[in-house]
Amino acid sequence: MTLKDFFIYLSENRFLNSAAQKYGLRLGAQSVVAGVSIAETVESIKELNKHKISCTVDNLGEFVYEKSEAIEAKNKILEVIQAIHDEKLDAHISLKPSQLGLDIDYDFCKENLRDIVSLANQYNIFVNFDMEDYGRLDKSFELLNELNKEYDNIGTVIQAYFFESEENIERYKDFRLRIVKGAYKEPEDVAYQSKSDIDKNFIKLIEYHLLNGKFTSIATHDHNVINHVKDFVKRNNIPNDKFEFQMLYGFRKDMQYDLAKEGYNFCTYLPFGKDWYGYFMRRLAERPQNLSLVTKQVFNK
Ligand code: FDA
Repeated sequence: MTLKDFFIYLSENRFLNSAAQKYGLRLGAQSVVAGVSIAETVESIKELNKHKISCTVDNLGEFVYEKSEAIEAKNKILEVIQAIHDEKLDAHISLKPSQLGLDIDYDFCKENLRDIVSLANQYNIFVNFDMEDYGRLDKSFELLNELNKEYDNIGTVIQAYFFESEENIERYKDFRLRIVKGAYKEPEDVAYQSKSDIDKNFIKLIEYHLLNGKFTSIATHDHNVINHVKDFVKRNNIPNDKFEFQMLYGFRKDMQYDLAKEGYNFCTYLPFGKDWYGYFMRRLAERPQNLSLVTKQVFNK
């Protein structure tokens, strides 16, 4: 078992997930999770906004199998939307359909999403449907299509490791899209496996959407991709208001501030909530160097 597989295994352990909920942020998670409560999260957003960095706020949640858990998650997101509006924050919402009941019942999930998108729409707040693993891809796009008949304040994510991402970037070019490499472990028959294939397709998709699509969020910590995009937009006269860079809260902080200072739109993906454990383990799986976050916390008391 590789280190990556080990952390993915830990992230999927339901017992450890619920055990961690009893505690506040631990093991260094506080450097990548903005807070447990909405009040703490609002303070983190205000701090980033001061530096001209906007935020996309994600209420962390794992293993939603009961309708009551999905409704609890929806209510928390509605509270965040209200706080964004009341506090006049430069922020929008990112959500995962599975947290709102996709694995329980499609129509139930759609109603939960409609409640969220409708309140956000009233306040002119954008809602991003994050993309999860391949098994949920078609249904997530279907939800987006159905809700788009009523609301236009929604967008989604294109994951570059999927073979079908090229088709999807064209199909969804009229949406505001976040383009990412892809975070889940996917089989060979649906997704590129090698870093070079994924990176190549990532660049291709970003360039396509920058030239043909609505607003593009380039979500990556990869400086090679960021430098490529900076050069590409300059050569193609793509104005700054057509795109932004996004990174996760707590990662490459200096680069986040620098990009904002250079005048690029920058948005930090800001996870919060009591369900921080699985998210934190997946970040360790992605980049075992992040383990230094844990060791620093454990040893530098
Ligand atoms: P990758 O991890 O490939 O790193 C490339 C290189 O960049 C590294 O070799 C290193 O040189 C440098 N680097 C990376 N991280 C660094 C660090 N912390 N410090 C120093 N150097 C570093 N996925 C998904 O499937 N669905 C989704 O909805 C989303 N949403 C999302 C939002 C946002 C804002 C981000 C940033 C990411 C996602 N993702 C996602 C996750 C995404 O698919 C991907 O798994 C991770 O971003 C990791 O890939 P990177 O592009 O960051 O670079």
